[in-house]
Amino acid sequence: MAYKNIVILTGAGISAESGVATFRDAGGLWEGHRVEDVATPQAFRRDPDMVQQFYNARRAQLPSVDPNPAHYALAKLEGELVGDVLIITQNVDDLHERAGSKNIIHMHGELNKVRCLGCGAVHDWLADCHRESPCPTCEAEGQLRPDIVWFGEMPMFMDRITRALSTCDLFLSIGTSGNVYPAAAFVAEVGRTGYAESVEINLEPSLGASLFDTCLHGKAGTLVPKFVQEILEA
Ligand code: APR
Repeated sequence: MAYKNIVILTGAGISAESGVATFRDAGGLWEGHRVEDVATPQAFRRDPDMVQQFYNARRAQLPSVDPNPAHYALAKLEGELVGDVLIITQNVDDLHERAGSKNIIHMHGELNKVRCLGCGAVHDWLADCHRESPCPTCEAEGQLRPDIVWFGEMPMFMDRITRALSTCDLFLSIGTSGNVYPAAAFVAEVGRTGYAESVEINLEPSLGASLFDTCLHGKAGTLVPKFVQEILEA
């Protein structure tokens, strides 16, 4: 079948072969930190310098990792499909962009952006961010935070995401363990329309694997290019 409207959810597993650590494969530690020590609003209030330092280190790592064949295959799909392709990523890295994908929603934010708690402005930010870094819009100091969705916060762009899920004819989930909501519920949401097919590509069955029409288990860098080729030849 030739798909016309494809929505793709990606998670940490798609960036694993690029050398970016996943969240849950390292015994609950995220690059040596407990998530609640660095990825919550409470952590930022308690120790803003430590949290900024953690994200500064991750931002600084980005130029040293490159997109892998799975990212490139999704960019090719968007470029060649006669129809729409939307990537909804939980990842905060920029590997989809660097592979050439254009239609991307970062539902958990982006490492390369900061947000001002004072005026709400969001700015591209490639350097380190410190407590004294002034907001380029309102010039207030001490107000910039990583533009990242932390535990306990609402994911971004949910209206657009809900609309996209209700109109797609293929929902593809790649490299996500199905632990974190609402992303883990997207497959059920898509299932309600009755006409979208759902496919999981993951190293191992995710928590929601039984909800998918088809599951392909193995490395994204191998399986995604093959799957994309099949779609483009259909
Ligand atoms: N190819 C495909 N899948 C892989 C690969 C690979 N090479 N390597 C690992 N995986 C799979 C793992 O088996 C796991 O099921 O990717 C999944 C990654 O799961 P998580 O680490 O839980 O990452 P993710 O699902 O993206 O986490 C969701 O949780 O901590 C929060 O906000 C954070 O966006 C993140 C969210």
